Amino acid sequence: MPDLRPKALRGQLLSFSDDPQAVGAAASHRHLEDGVLLIEDGRIAGMGEARELLPALPAGTPVEHWPGCLILPGLIDIHIHLPQTQVIASFGAQLLDWLQTYTFVEEQRFADPAHCARIARFFLDELARNGTTTAVVYGSVHPQSVEALFTESARRNLCTIAGKVMMDRGAPPGLLDTAERGYAESKALIARWHGKGRQRYAISPRFAVTSSAAQLEAAGALAREHPDCYVQTHLAENHEEIATVRRLFPAAASYTDVYDRCGLLGPRSIFGHCLHLGEAERRRLSESGSVAAFCPTSNLFLGSGLFDLAGLRDPACPVRVGIATDIGGGTSYSMLRTAAEGYKVLQLRGQSWPALDAFYALTLGNARALGLESEIGTLAVGSAADVVVLEPRATPAMAHRMERGADDLAATLFVLLMMADERAVRASYVMGERVHTTPSGN
Ligand code: GUN
Ligand code: ZN
Repeated sequence: MPDLRPKALRGQLLSFSDDPQAVGAAASHRHLEDGVLLIEDGRIAGMGEARELLPALPAGTPVEHWPGCLILPGLIDIHIHLPQTQVIASFGAQLLDWLQTYTFVEEQRFADPAHCARIARFFLDELARNGTTTAVVYGSVHPQSVEALFTESARRNLCTIAGKVMMDRGAPPGLLDTAERGYAESKALIARWHGKGRQRYAISPRFAVTSSAAQLEAAGALAREHPDCYVQTHLAENHEEIATVRRLFPAAASYTDVYDRCGLLGPRSIFGHCLHLGEAERRRLSESGSVAAFCPTSNLFLGSGLFDLAGLRDPACPVRVGIATDIGGGTSYSMLRTAAEGYKVLQLRGQSWPALDAFYALTLGNARALGLESEIGTLAVGSAADVVVLEPRATPAMAHRMERGADDLAATLFVLLMMADERAVRASYVMGERVHTTPSGN
C-alpha cells in the first residue's frame, strides 16, 4: 500500500505552467530557491517558500530535505519498447535490418509470461532510476507482455500507457497475429486495463510495414470504438522504410495517408520519429492534433535522420511534439541524456533549444502531448506527487563545472542537461512515495 501520510519535500522547486516558446521564459515557470512541496494522499497539496510554509506545517509532518537539489515533476517518456531492454546496443544496422536481425529475434522471447514479468520489473526499476515516472510503452505482439507490464505498474501505483503491438506480416511467424486476433487481443486488454487506476491503453499497430491494410483498418475500428484510448505507431523514420510503405500501399498519397485513411490520426495518436515528412503530411498531422515523438538517441544510433523541430513547429501548421527514448533503438533510458542528444541534433539542424525549453519538454510538454497535464508534468496542487530530485553537482565533473557561472537557473539546467545521467537522479517519488534513492557522491 502506498504511504498516504502528509509529508513535505524541501529544496529548489521548478514547475512549468506553459511553454517558454509561447509565453516567454519568465512567464513559463515557477522557480523557488528554497521551496517546500506539500504532499497529501499522494497528491500535491501546496508549493511555496520554505520560510512561509515550514512554520505552518502540522507538528510531526516529515520533511525530506534535498539541499542543493532541484525538485521537479517526474520525467515523462512518450515512446519506449518494453521488449527491447536486451536489444539496446546491437551493432551496425539501420532500421529494417536492425528489426530483422536483432529486434524480432528478441521479441519472440516474450511468449513466455515469466520472461515478461522479469523484464517488466527490470524496466520499471530502470525508469525509476532515471527519474521517469510515466512512459508510453510498446509491448511485444504477445498480450502477456502488456499484462505483465500493467500488473507491475499497477502494483507500483505508476501512471503507464501501453499496448500490445499488432503485426500480421513481415516478421517471423512467432511474432505475428492476424487482423482479427490483433483486434480481439487488444480489445480484451482495453477492457481489462484501460482506466483501471492509473493504467491507460494505447492501440499499437507497429507500423505500416508489418501491418496489412486489414489490420490497420482493425486498429482504426478499435480507435473509433475506444476514443479515449491512445494510438501509437511509427512514421517516416527511414528512407528504406518509406519506400517499402510506398510499395505496399500504392494507392495512398503518402506514408501518413496510410494511417489517415484508417482513422488513426488524432489528438491521442503518437507517431514515433516523423523525420522525413512532406508538407501535406505535416498539414494532416497538424490538423488532426496528432503528436510527433522526437527520439534523438534512436535517430542517431540507427542513422535515421535529424528531427526538424522548427519545421514541425511551423506556425502555419504546427504539429504537437513530445520527446522520447525509443529504447532499444534508443541508447539511454535517461530522459536527460535523451534531451542532451536532442540538443545536439537540433544544433546539426542549425536550431537552438534552450535548457528551459528542454525541461519544459520533459515535464509539462510531454504531459500535454498526452493530454495528461492535469494529472502529471507539473507541481500544481491536485497533480499526482510524481516527482524527481536532481543534483546538479552529482559527479566531480559536474561539481567542478558548477564552480563557474552556474549561478542562474538556465545555466544550472544546461549543466544538468549536458552532463547529467542517472547519477544525478537523487530520488524518484510516485504518488508521494519514494521509489528510488541514489546516495550522494556517485
Ligand atoms: N519501426 C517499427 N518498429 C520499430 C521499432 O521497434 N523501433 C524503431 N526505432 N522503429 C520501428
Ligand atoms: Zn519505437
